[in-house]
Formats: sequence, C-alpha cells, structure tokens
Amino acid sequence: MLTETIDIKNVTLKNRVVVAPMMTDFWNKDGSPTERTIEIYRSYAESGAGLVVMEQLAVHPWGRLTFDQPRLYRDDSALALRALTQPFRDRGVPIVTQLNFGGRVSDKELLDEPDFEFVTPSGLPVPRKSTVQADSRALTADEIAEIVASFADAAHRAVDLAGFNGGVQIYASHGYLISQFLSPVTNTRTDRYGGSLANRARIVFETVEAVRARIGDAPLSVRLGASDRMPGEPENGLTLAESAWIAGELAQMGVDWLSVSGNHCIYGIGADDNDTAYFEPYSRAIRDAASKYGVPVDCTGGIRTPGTAERLLQSQACDLIGIGRPLLKDKAYLSNWNL
Ligand SMILES: Cc1cc2nc3c(=O)[nH]c(=O)nc-3n(C[C@H](O)[C@H](O)[C@H](O)COP(=O)(O)O)c2cc1C
Repeated sequence: MLTETIDIKNVTLKNRVVVAPMMTDFWNKDGSPTERTIEIYRSYAESGAGLVVMEQLAVHPWGRLTFDQPRLYRDDSALALRALTQPFRDRGVPIVTQLNFGGRVSDKELLDEPDFEFVTPSGLPVPRKSTVQADSRALTADEIAEIVASFADAAHRAVDLAGFNGGVQIYASHGYLISQFLSPVTNTRTDRYGGSLANRARIVFETVEAVRARIGDAPLSVRLGASDRMPGEPENGLTLAESAWIAGELAQMGVDWLSVSGNHCIYGIGADDNDTAYFEPYSRAIRDAASKYGVPVDCTGGIRTPGTAERLLQSQACDLIGIGRPLLKDKAYLSNWNL
C-alpha cells in the first residue's frame, strides 16, 4: 500500500509518505525564506514523498515563537514564500502550509518586542520543560474571535498568494495555543471556550469553519494532539477518548485529512525512535473515528522502515506515514524506500 496513490480532495498523492513539518531555523529577520531554507524544501520536493507539510507559520504577530519565524499575517510575507513553493508546483508534488499560534510556549528571550503580548486560554503555564516561558494573560472572547479570523486570513494567503498547492493544516497539537484550549490542564475557562469537551474544542471547530470559508476546495487538514500523555502512561488531561471524539467531529465537518501526534506530550521527544512507531495506538483510535467519514489519517513518530510503514497501512492503523527527523540528517533518506 505504501506506493499506492491516494486522493485528498482535489489533490492526488503519488504514495503514502508524508514529510512531517519541522522547523528549520534559517529565516531572514522578516520571516522570508533564505537560500538555505529554499534548498532544504527543494530537497523535500525531490525526496520521493507524496506530500510535504511545511513547518509552522505564524498567523498573527503575537502567535510567533521567534522574531524571524515564517509568517502569513501579511500579503508580502505570503508572496515571499512563492520561491519556496515553486519547486513543488514545478514537480507536481503537493506542499501543505501549517498554520499556528504559539501562545505561551513562545520563547520570551526571542520576542522581547514592546507591543508583544503572551496570551493563552487561562494564563496558565504549559507543561513543557524545554522552553523559557513568559507570564501570560487569558484571552478575551473578542481576541479568540480575532485569532480564529487570523487563521482564516492566513489560510487564504497560503493558497491564493503563497502557492501552497496541497492546502493548509491547522496546528492543534504539541502544546501550542489550540492544543492548550483542548487540554483541561491549560484551559480552566468558564465561558463557552472552557469546561466541557465540546467547549474546549470549540476553537478548533470555529477555526476549521472559518478556514474552509476562505480556501474553497483546497485540502484542509488538522494536526491533532491525541493525548496529553504518551501511550502506556496513565492518562490525565486530554485523553485519547476525547481526541477520538474531536476527530470524528472534524471528519463530519469536512476536514480532508488528519495528522496524529501528541498534545502536551509534544511529539514524543525522547521516545524510542528506533522503528517503534510509538503513536500507533493513538493513530488507530483516531482512524477508527475518522474512517467512517472517509477521512484519511497520518501516523508520525518513530517510523523508520518501509516494512513497518506497510504493516501500519495494512493493519489500518493509518492511511499515511509521516517521516521527520531522519530527513533532517539525510535528505536522501527515502531514496531506498522504492517510492
Ligand atoms: C527540529 C524539529 C522541529 C519540528 N517542528 C515541528 C513543527 O513546526 N510542526 C509540527 O507539527 N511538528 C514539528 N515537529 C515534529 C515532527 O513533525 C514529528 O512529529 C516528529 O519529529 C516525530 O516524527 P519522527 O520520529 O519521524 O521524527 C518537529 C520536530 C523536530 C525534530
């Protein structure tokens, strides 16, 4: 199945391998791509993968993680990305843009701008150790509406100005803002964005609706944090049963494909990446919920051989296989996968 084509909306993938989104750190100060960034993405276009997801792009100035993060809140920033997406259009390989609002996990040292504000669902710290966290304040309902609208505007720019021929992905995992809303650990709001699961997930549903209204038939994906804890650990916070429900709702709303990763447990940093496919149980549960509506699911994390990839596909754990870190080390990593 690994080499079978699959249609996602109006886009045909020539195989089931997806290059996972990974921040590259080589951007100009204004967030435009450098020659080095363009070269890295060109190598992904030539990697043999059927689909490439670009690293996260900020949808709002306060949603950045660093000064120089690539962004989509201005038209000129979107147009500057055409040089990066051109090799994909030339080769007919789809590239997806990933839309994000960082929230408190933004790096305080790197965002010391006078009018920058750190905002989160409830002004609470995010349970991750690796980043210096600033104090934050809770968003107002009006500001939530502004952020939802900024995802939609950014999605329009991605598709209509920047040339992302694979559509967009809403980043709802890894402890960033939407992921913070999903988890009761970071969302203690008492308005319609907090409390019940449906309320905690409201921001992602509203974002999907707003984005869809601006991108027409372009593919729309969500990268969903499946649980706050890694598989095998006792669950607390956002649970797999909850995220499976969210996945079913998203599938019914017309999301075209889902990617499965961690919520506050991030992407399994430190988990054994030696071909253990550590998110398999999460992917299987999300796929069970989404496949009823014909929505394909990508599993990413510690998948290292075509044999494991094929087993995951055959056993219906997922429909797509994400590959990340090996490509950072070796751009030709997929060359012996016979794609
Ligand atoms: C340096 C680095 C940057 C990453 N940046 C992003 C990102 O911008 N968006 C995202 O969804 N995941 C990001 N990830 C997570 C990867 O997409 C992927 O889920 C993770 O590396 C696990 O897959 P792997 O075992 O094949 O590497 C990043 C991972 C790494 C190592």
